[in-house]
Order: sequence, then C-alpha cells, then structure tokens
Amino acid sequence: MPKYEAQDRYFKKARDAGYRARSAFKLQAIDEKYDLLRSGMQVLDLGAAPGSFLQYISKKIGEKGLAIGIDLQKIRDLSLRNVKTYEGDVFDDELYKKIVQENGLNKFDLITSDLAPNTTGISFMDGGASLNLSHKVLEVAKKLLKKGGGVVIKILPGFNEGDLFGELRKNFVQVKKYRPQAIRKSSRESYIICLNKR
Ligand SMILES: C[S@@+](CC[C@H](N)C(=O)[O-])C[C@H]1O[C@@H](n2cnc3c(N)ncnc32)[C@H](O)[C@@H]1O
Repeated sequence: MPKYEAQDRYFKKARDAGYRARSAFKLQAIDEKYDLLRSGMQVLDLGAAPGSFLQYISKKIGEKGLAIGIDLQKIRDLSLRNVKTYEGDVFDDELYKKIVQENGLNKFDLITSDLAPNTTGISFMDGGASLNLSHKVLEVAKKLLKKGGGVVIKILPGFNEGDLFGELRKNFVQVKKYRPQAIRKSSRESYIICLNKR
C-alpha cells in the first residue's frame, strides 16, 4: 500500500473510533504486545494533550481505575469519569505533590510518556531534549511508580541512548524498544517499554 494510503488509514481509523489523535493506536499496539493495562489501574500519562492515550487508557482501566494526564497545553475536557487532567510542566515537582494529595493517591501502576519536545529539525538538539524528558520520566517513576509497575517512554533519535538504557535497566527487570506500526514511516520515533520495576 502506498505510504500516504497507510497514513490516511490511521487518520480515518482514529476519527471513526472517536480518538483525538492516532497516537492511541500506538499505545494500543504496545498494550496488546506487552499486556500493560488492566481494570482498576491507576495510570499517570505525561505529555497527554490532546488526550488520545487517555481515551484508550480510560476504556481499559474501567470505572474503578484512574488516569491522570499532564501537559503544558490545556487538555480539552474529555468527559471521562475516570480521567483527570492537569495543565503544567512535567519538570514541576510541586505539581506531582498536588496530584497525589488531591486524588488521595500513593503510587501509580503504570506511567506512560508520549512527551515530545518542540523539534528544531537539528537531530542532536531534538534528541537531547527528548533524552532530557526521558530522564525526567525515569525520575518520576522512581518516586511514583509501584514496585512491579511499568513505564512506556517515547524517544526521538539523535541521543546517546546507552546512558538512558543503563539507568533504566538498573530500575526495571525488562527494558525493550518497540516501534508500533501506527508510527508514520517518515518519523524516527520509537518507544521504550520498561516492565517490572525493581
Ligand atoms: C505527541 S504529543 C502527545 C499526544 C498524546 N499522547 C495523545 O495521545 O493525544 C506530545 C505532548 O508533549 C507535551 N510536552 C512537551 N514537553 C512537555 C513538558 N515539559 N511538560 C508537559 N508536557 C510537555 C506537548 O505539549 C505535547 O502535547
């Protein structure tokens, strides 16, 4: 199938499923492969706007679960009872204190990050910004993820991954890289899946 047709297919699929972005299908593919989301889970979604990851997570965790989304941009109301959103910066540690307090939470079962910096097109700069975000996700996971929990992290190419992978392997039993089909062929992003927090 020509490339544009495949892109169009995911765009239409997202629209038909009521998703705000095609990204939901990337998370679905990751979930189907690694069996991450279950009923009743508490999930933190970093870089959550416009909200398609949250829409997928909401369905999977059901009414007993809770998903919290954070983004620099306002997330338009999703009208989902098991989802709460916060407008803010993932580097703002006060925000996590507020979230934990306001929702009577202790730790999360899963953290998903689709965080992406504003790209410049200059590979080492974009990769560096993505690496910085990924290290922040790991720092948040160290504090706020339950033992045995998992993390999904979007990464852009162009950085020295070795450093990040080493750190992740210290903290998780399994660390893998996965590139779901729903990613545009022209995009070089992929995801790191970390399972079973030590
Ligand atoms: C690819 S989009 C996320 C799409 C989302 N997962 C969905 O399914 O709708 C990446 C998001 O990361 C957010 N972002 C980038 N840096 C951030 C930061 N420091 N704090 C919070 N959000 C950030 C951007 O505002 C952007 O909305």
